[in-house]
Amino acid sequence: MYILGLTTLGDAAATLISDGAIVAAAEEERFSRVKHHSGFPYEAVRYCLKEAGIGIGDVAHIGLYWKPWVIGHKAFQALRSGLISPQMFRARMDRGVREISDSYLGMLGYPGLMRKHFGPGKFRFHFLEHHRCHAASAFLVSGFPRAAIATWDGTGEDTTTLFSLGDDLDIRMLKRIKLPHSLGQFYSAVTNFLGFDMFAGDEWKVMGLAAYGEPQYYDFFAQRVLTPNGSNDFHLDIRVLDHHLAKRYKFSDAIKKDLGAPRRPEEELTKKHWDIAASAQKVLEDTALRLINWLHGETGEENLCMAGGVALNSVMNGRIMTETPFKRYFIQPAAGDAGCSLGAALLICHTLLKQPRRVTMEHAYFGPGFTSVECAAALRESDLKFETLPDRELLPRVARLIADGAIIGWFQGRMEFGPRALGCRSFLADPRRNDMRELLNSKVKLREWFRPLAPSMLEEATEKIFGKPHRDPFMITVLSVAETQRAAIPAVVHVDGTARPQTVSKKTNPRYWQLISEFDKLTGVPMLLNTSFNVQEPIVCSPKDAIKTFRNANFDALVLENHLVLGG
Ligand SMILES: [Fe+2]
Repeated sequence: MYILGLTTLGDAAATLISDGAIVAAAEEERFSRVKHHSGFPYEAVRYCLKEAGIGIGDVAHIGLYWKPWVIGHKAFQALRSGLISPQMFRARMDRGVREISDSYLGMLGYPGLMRKHFGPGKFRFHFLEHHRCHAASAFLVSGFPRAAIATWDGTGEDTTTLFSLGDDLDIRMLKRIKLPHSLGQFYSAVTNFLGFDMFAGDEWKVMGLAAYGEPQYYDFFAQRVLTPNGSNDFHLDIRVLDHHLAKRYKFSDAIKKDLGAPRRPEEELTKKHWDIAASAQKVLEDTALRLINWLHGETGEENLCMAGGVALNSVMNGRIMTETPFKRYFIQPAAGDAGCSLGAALLICHTLLKQPRRVTMEHAYFGPGFTSVECAAALRESDLKFETLPDRELLPRVARLIADGAIIGWFQGRMEFGPRALGCRSFLADPRRNDMRELLNSKVKLREWFRPLAPSMLEEATEKIFGKPHRDPFMITVLSVAETQRAAIPAVVHVDGTARPQTVSKKTNPRYWQLISEFDKLTGVPMLLNTSFNVQEPIVCSPKDAIKTFRNANFDALVLENHLVLGG
């Protein structure tokens, strides 16, 4: 039985499952080439159906990641803001009225829209709660029979944080935190205060920058902005830092008095900005640790599942793993809203229809793949000269190129679901080179100097690198690199001595594992620098996207399946 899940506003995506197994999952942005695509995921749905070789008539259920009629709370928040300040009230109402009429109520028409665009179907359409979709996206594919579940983001319909207990097919709610108290909105507002763009997903930049600073403003954030409210709750004071005003780069006098003027996007980054980032990051981490410790006490479970945009904060995740009593973790790699499309489909399959759970998500390779023949055709069409080599020749040759300093565009297999490139649509480079991070950030990816770059390593090598075993196939936790190892791999160790590794398994990505092994044989370093294959646009999806990026960007060689193109 086929079930389709949909995410339709920001980070639009579609996922198709069959009897609980993931058949296909992809973000709309990879097809539309518009980052964080907001709107109905037409292309992603089309791709999912094509991957399965089915039509809409074969789909039994469709799940949407939102209950559009839960809008009362938003209206109440707008009224409450009116009591605080007319400016805040206008900001909320402007946006609220537009969202409700354009987006939320429009969702009620989706069943008709599906039939209009994809043909007649007998599917049942389900509107599902946003945070339950996040929770399902992690727990139901975690492989854990029981687990505590934390989901946190900017906001769902009205909920910003949900703690639940997963038990086989059921997800039971334990504690819900609602707007305006939101960890995601807190972090996004700080993102805009620092002159970045929350709508572009610039929260990564705050996290990267935080490592350079000292938490000088910790007390301000911890005592005035994001404060504890009992052991299992928190309070965000929107009179001091309001997300809706921050969206327009407007900030309260209270925050300006303590932190100074917000940074303009073109303004130089100074130590003060690093310190603000470090302070906000630490308050987020400490709040999360307090709540997760409560969740552990409440459930007595040893397994923890997490999802929601805040669960992409890999530094916070690293601290949760090392500083709370939970013993095992599953963090959904598509932790942002794209992953809700998977959660919606899983909720229907297991929680509503009570089908048994069969699948553990061990990798994220659920997007489009292209054969070597298709890649060769795209290369011929582009008039690029290429060699075609079997893996036994190609992989040692690519490893040698990397060891000699080349930056490679590496394209193979099915595209990753979620924001991370995990060795199928990646730029690869030598982690031993001091200058590689600056080179990649400034010459290839055309982005800020302070963005950290991460390693893909053989899963067998983690104990050597971190001084303890570690497993993270999804590159979603940051941990400290053993001091003896740091000097050997400067390009993938952040300024604070940490790294965000992907542990690569021979089972789930044998070709990538083999390439890293070839590099290890040459250099004694069991890892490659891995960053997503894109320049200021969504990660490449098709051979055509990869070739276009190769033509326009400044890197040395392109590998499309078994074809090698050398630059220059
Ligand atoms: Fe969300």
